[in-house]
Amino acid sequence: MAVERENMSDESATCVAIPQHVAVIMDGNGRWAETRGKPRHAGHRAGVAAVRRIVEQAAQEGVKFLTLFAFSSENWERPSDEVGRLMSLFFDVLQREVDELHRNEVRLKFVGQLELLNARLVRKIRAAERRTAHNDGLTLIVAVAYGGRWDITQAVRRIAARVESGAQDAADIDEQTVSESLALGGVPDPDLLIRTGGEHRISNFLLWNLAYSELYFCDCLWPDFGEDEFSAALDYFTRRQRRFGKTAKQLGAA
Ligand code: FPP
Repeated sequence: MAVERENMSDESATCVAIPQHVAVIMDGNGRWAETRGKPRHAGHRAGVAAVRRIVEQAAQEGVKFLTLFAFSSENWERPSDEVGRLMSLFFDVLQREVDELHRNEVRLKFVGQLELLNARLVRKIRAAERRTAHNDGLTLIVAVAYGGRWDITQAVRRIAARVESGAQDAADIDEQTVSESLALGGVPDPDLLIRTGGEHRISNFLLWNLAYSELYFCDCLWPDFGEDEFSAALDYFTRRQRRFGKTAKQLGAA
């Protein structure tokens, strides 16, 4: 689903589509740091400034949901020093930014295997979620210790438990049942996926939810992703014709 915004120009009214949900794979922090002769964690710290910029701009543009891939299930395999510094960074960002996010009506939500994080960080995450739960601006979803295959697996387990308890009839399981059991249950699928850093892959991000998302890849490293780069991604989205399996002719007739 995308929101259609009317943009009255001098002579004609054109419709500019704003994606309702934007998902982002923030890649390139390590390379950004290494090309500057800095340790990789300096790239992650610089990446936080880019997060701040995109959150602000997404809210201004009228995006309703912004989902950021901050740490994947596979990222646990990184050197322990890098993993430890990333976890500390998540804690510090929450400590520093939640007041301002709350003032700006942003609702924070974390998804992923949070039970794998240390208890102090989980308490901080839950407190931030509770504090911002009733805000009605942008919903900022941070995927941490998240993997698309883990997500589908946990959804299957939840559905199986309901079948076992008699609350769900196996014959009635449909796509909506699965969608609702995923970590982003209740959130519309991403309209647009942005991946920075030059790679053209999904890397086990929202495997189910991205089925019909428009995919935008750019070479820009995440810490360099600013207002112009986000506007370019939004412009790309406006130029796409989303057919969801139908023909262009059918859409014209609709
Ligand atoms: C991928 O770049 C980036 C990460 C694994 C971490 C992203 C985290 C942040 C930007 C911090 C944001 C914090 C919050 C709370 C949202 P990479 O290290 O794989 O880069 P490379 O491909 O150049 O090595």
